[in-house]
Amino acid sequence: MRIIRSRHFWLILALFIFCSVLHYAELMGIVGTTEPSFHFGLTRHTLDRILFLLPIIYCTYVFGLTGGLGTSFTALLVMLPRAILISPAPTDAIVEIVGVILVGVLVSLWSWTLVKEKGKTEAALAQLNSAQNNLRYYLQQITRAQEEERKRIARELHDDTAQALYALTRQVDNFVRANTNLPADNVSFLEDLGKQISKVLQDLRRFSQDLRPPMLDDLGLLATLRWLVSESREQCGIKVDLKVVGAERRLSPEAEFTLFRIVQEAVRNIERHSQALKAEVKVEFGEGKTRVSVSDNGKGFKLSGSLVDLVRTGKLGLAGMEERVRLLNGSIKIESEPGKGTTVMIEIPI
Ligand SMILES: Nc1ncnc2c1ncn2[C@@H]1O[C@H](COP(=O)(O)OP(=O)(O)OP(=O)(O)O)[C@@H](O)[C@H]1O
Ligand SMILES: [Mg+2]
Repeated sequence: MRIIRSRHFWLILALFIFCSVLHYAELMGIVGTTEPSFHFGLTRHTLDRILFLLPIIYCTYVFGLTGGLGTSFTALLVMLPRAILISPAPTDAIVEIVGVILVGVLVSLWSWTLVKEKGKTEAALAQLNSAQNNLRYYLQQITRAQEEERKRIARELHDDTAQALYALTRQVDNFVRANTNLPADNVSFLEDLGKQISKVLQDLRRFSQDLRPPMLDDLGLLATLRWLVSESREQCGIKVDLKVVGAERRLSPEAEFTLFRIVQEAVRNIERHSQALKAEVKVEFGEGKTRVSVSDNGKGFKLSGSLVDLVRTGKLGLAGMEERVRLLNGSIKIESEPGKGTTVMIEIPI
């Protein structure tokens, strides 16, 4: 029924009827009964027979192997009576018909193989797609779990370890103040110890802030980026600036920490790899979307075809950025050229 509703079916039928009428034209009085001259070295009836290949090939293309074989068989039934009963050279005519039908059957089989191969390729692609989706799901879960873990470690470092170190410095101070009769070298030893503990405490605070800046939850993305930029300027001597375009607004906590992590990784990459003198972090708040870019004027690098290649060599930063952006349904573009600096551009629909 579906076949009858297809306009291809009616076109094929019309073509078939046209070929049949042409083949028996003299019987219907359309042309004279005299044997016509040769065209391209072939008789008119040979050309008629070859013409039957048109509906056969068309039908194979549209309806596959069954359609092709069915049309070939019907063409055989239509052509045979003429070859046996009318043709002056029946053997030649039958050989021609067999040749034409053979070509039709071969074309049908060939197209069937192609369709089967296409089916196999599509199945393999679907399998690959599903594997990629699974992988993406795991990466998202790992990214979320990693963020939770960082938050927990940062809180523990801040609340427990840092407090304990602070209490130690207070104890050393109090001990020196309470024991005024201590020998001078003991006093200087204890003061030195106090300074070392203070230094460890300072490093620990920076480390814990880096893990999960508490200001990200309290003051938001821009305040945290200002801190990141000023810290980077102090630590590495690169002139990093923060530029904000559009009306500032708070984003969802997930979007803020994801964007922060991406900018943090891009800035760390600038510090570690770029040899840049200047860098800029730009945040643009637009209508329903937020754009963030991090650019530097450093040495740049040659981007390999896929970030997966970087992951294989243990470089997870850029690939991690891509995964994080995907978590927010956003897009990321990394532009870099040796000698021309690097720009990482992110756009998220928030
Ligand atoms: N701003 C940049 N300037 C110059 N080269 C860069 C810059 N950013 C990245 N690269 C190059 O791209 C590579 C991949 O960066 P990616 O952040 O993925 O890995 P990584 O920084 O080497 O290691 P990881 O981030 O996993 O600790 C770097 O090794 C570096 O060669
Ligand atoms: Mg990196």
